[in-house]
Amino acid sequence: MKIGILVGRENTFPPALIERINSLNRGVTAEYIKIGGVKEKQPCPYRVILDRISHEIPFYRSYLKNAILDGAIVVNNPFWWSADDKFFNYSLAARLGVAIPKTVLLPQKNYKEGVVSESLRNLEFPLKWQEIVDYVGLPAWLKPHDGGGWKNVFKVKSLRELIDVYDHTDQLCMTLQEHIAFDRYVRCYCIRQKYVRMMPYDPALPYPTQYIKVKIEDYIDKDLRDRIERDCITICKALGYDINTVEFAIRDGIPYAIDFMNPAPDADNFSVGLENFEWMLTQVSELLIDYALNGVPTRKAHRWDDFLNQQIATTTTA
Ligand SMILES: Nc1ncnc2c1ncn2[C@@H]1O[C@H](COP(=O)(O)OP(=O)(O)O)[C@@H](O)[C@H]1O
Ligand SMILES: [Mg+2]
Repeated sequence: MKIGILVGRENTFPPALIERINSLNRGVTAEYIKIGGVKEKQPCPYRVILDRISHEIPFYRSYLKNAILDGAIVVNNPFWWSADDKFFNYSLAARLGVAIPKTVLLPQKNYKEGVVSESLRNLEFPLKWQEIVDYVGLPAWLKPHDGGGWKNVFKVKSLRELIDVYDHTDQLCMTLQEHIAFDRYVRCYCIRQKYVRMMPYDPALPYPTQYIKVKIEDYIDKDLRDRIERDCITICKALGYDINTVEFAIRDGIPYAIDFMNPAPDADNFSVGLENFEWMLTQVSELLIDYALNGVPTRKAHRWDDFLNQQIATTTTA
């Protein structure tokens, strides 16, 4: 039974994970995937695939969907990852009772070539900027509705600055969000929608020093830790991610979920620190091995699985 790993340029977590899985000798081995052209009914040699990079490589995303058709379990599910976005995440979390900053989705500033005024007749123009700003308050954060790595994330102090910055966002779909003046911030790994590791984090520090070396018990009291853990699990269960990080900014004792669409979260040992790294290695290797031995194929979560089963039944009876 094999586990395949799809990676980008990260160089500490994936090799350690492969070594860990192989050294456990549980009847499951792990290796890097190597692929070229993919045929439409190509068999997938992997029972489980860990995806760390398909958000940046569309070819991998499509390859993974194809692997799912052949029965592979892909962590995280590429169909949902493709459909998901951060504004949807905020709307969902808000309805599930998780505290989030007030957030407004904004129409894009620019559109791709060929989209002209007549294509945009459903859009209000001009935008009711004052009303939007009154809702979220100032300062506020202007950030992509689907982004990562702090790219195009701006803090704006006035309506004028907001419009200036917005005018440079080109074709990105942006959100405007209430500023949470936090006194503490945590990033939480959440594995298998049930195991949570809270990591004190100072976003003001430069990469890779943000994971601050303070014990979580000395940073956040028990009641708040319980709430963060509950919220983290609620979010990850609802979204269905088996590997994710959820970031919370704490203001007046309330944890506001800020960023929780990280299905391939940073796990480099020099960034997260050795203890967190070790925790991730154990959790992810156990998750992947268990899925390889006992997991349900990802395709079971999709409508077309029924059709594929009928197809198999017809082929075998014929
Ligand atoms: N609403 C907010 N209030 C306070 N700080 C924020 C807010 N939104 C973002 N930030 C700051 O900006 C950083 C990047 O924003 P985030 O939403 O996490 O985007 P990314 O996915 O690019 O990491 C956060 O880690 C936090 O420090
Ligand atoms: Mg973030």
